[in-house]
Amino acid sequence: MTAAEYKRRRRRLAAAMKPGSIALLAAASESVRNRDVHYPYRQDSDFFYVTGFPEPEALAVLVPGRKEGELVFFCRPRDSERELWEGTRAGVEGVRQDFGADEAHPIDKLDEILPKLLEDRDRVYYPAGANPALDQRLMEWVNVVRGKARAGVRAPTEFIVLERLLSEQRLLKSQAELKIIRRAVRISAAAHRRVMRLCRPGLWEYQLETEFVRACASRGGRFQAYPPIVGSGANACVLHYVDNRHRLEDGDLVLVDAGCELAGYASDITRTFPVNGRFSPPQRELYELVLAAQEAAIAKAVPGNRWNHIHKAAVRTLTQGLVELGLLAGGRKAVPKLIKEEKYKPYFMHRTGHWLGMDVHDVGDYRVGGKWRWLEPGMVLTVEPGLYIPADRTEAPARYRGIGIRIEDDVLITAEGNEVLSMHAPKTVADIEACMNGE
Ligand code: GLY
Ligand code: MN
Ligand code: MN
Repeated sequence: MTAAEYKRRRRRLAAAMKPGSIALLAAASESVRNRDVHYPYRQDSDFFYVTGFPEPEALAVLVPGRKEGELVFFCRPRDSERELWEGTRAGVEGVRQDFGADEAHPIDKLDEILPKLLEDRDRVYYPAGANPALDQRLMEWVNVVRGKARAGVRAPTEFIVLERLLSEQRLLKSQAELKIIRRAVRISAAAHRRVMRLCRPGLWEYQLETEFVRACASRGGRFQAYPPIVGSGANACVLHYVDNRHRLEDGDLVLVDAGCELAGYASDITRTFPVNGRFSPPQRELYELVLAAQEAAIAKAVPGNRWNHIHKAAVRTLTQGLVELGLLAGGRKAVPKLIKEEKYKPYFMHRTGHWLGMDVHDVGDYRVGGKWRWLEPGMVLTVEPGLYIPADRTEAPARYRGIGIRIEDDVLITAEGNEVLSMHAPKTVADIEACMNGE
């Protein structure tokens, strides 16, 4: 991502702020895993979107119209002793040189400098509620400014959640962002193919997980966008199953929901395939139904449709199919009523997708003005219908029990329609069986 792209983002954020405002963006805190061991650090998405700065303990302050410079940065100062242990820091010089800061200070100068930046500003945009320490410190800084009222200094009176301004901007991806997302998705699709080829009875779920992670890393996608879900047999019915500790049994399906994160952007792909490389008749019947629902849903992911049209198409196809397979009672004529009464929900209980971007469940409103949002070119979303028939569901025909299937693709809305970015992960029964059997 170029410096010009970050600058453009800040300019658009400044333009979205009301006059007389100031915005605070905070780096993510480090999280303790145990005692003195931390989880791998992941920067806050909004902060990274606006600054591209990868370190913890930093605060970016955007002050539109400020004569001395609009971007004031607070960060960890250079420290040769600490850097010997933890790696290099940009330091105050570095953020000026490489991250577009007009002014930079060590983070421990916050209490001294921040109140001055708040003077005579009417409103503050900040990540309210996301960071209790920042919430509290902001009020302390505001109180310092209030203390100067008799000197004719005005303190801010309005405090506004910042996310909303950025989420609208983040929802529509730039060409530079799409380039990264395309690459992330291609890497994940290749890793899914790799896992399909490796899979066989007797392996463990976590072996597929580690192969997926390795296959991504070997292609440059070192981090995962979320913990991989590898659920075989009835484990696939647990939507966010991350135990991944069971053995892959001959005759079961396995669901792999996994995607790498590349340069801060997520991919999110699910494939479900037979552990032994061949679908059984009941597995194939359910699989073909989920696939038909997914294709019907993808066909609706085009400009001129609303967000909900995607979900509705999936629900319609799934409900019809559930009737045909004997999982729901009633003939074809009963389908509208079954949909209205949400009778499909015991088997399909989640929505058909979500926005995708820096966060796997990315930001952006799904409804605008009380109505489902129109789809527009530049939006990226997932389409991921599924069917989950728990093993103990006695109302279901026995042949379908204990089967969970989800098929998930990453889709870019384009002016002409859409582009399925994850098309290189095998999806039809024939393509999956061919991939798994080296045909
Ligand atoms: N991987 C989480 C999801 O598909 O939403
Ligand atoms: Mn998803
Ligand atoms: Mn997923």
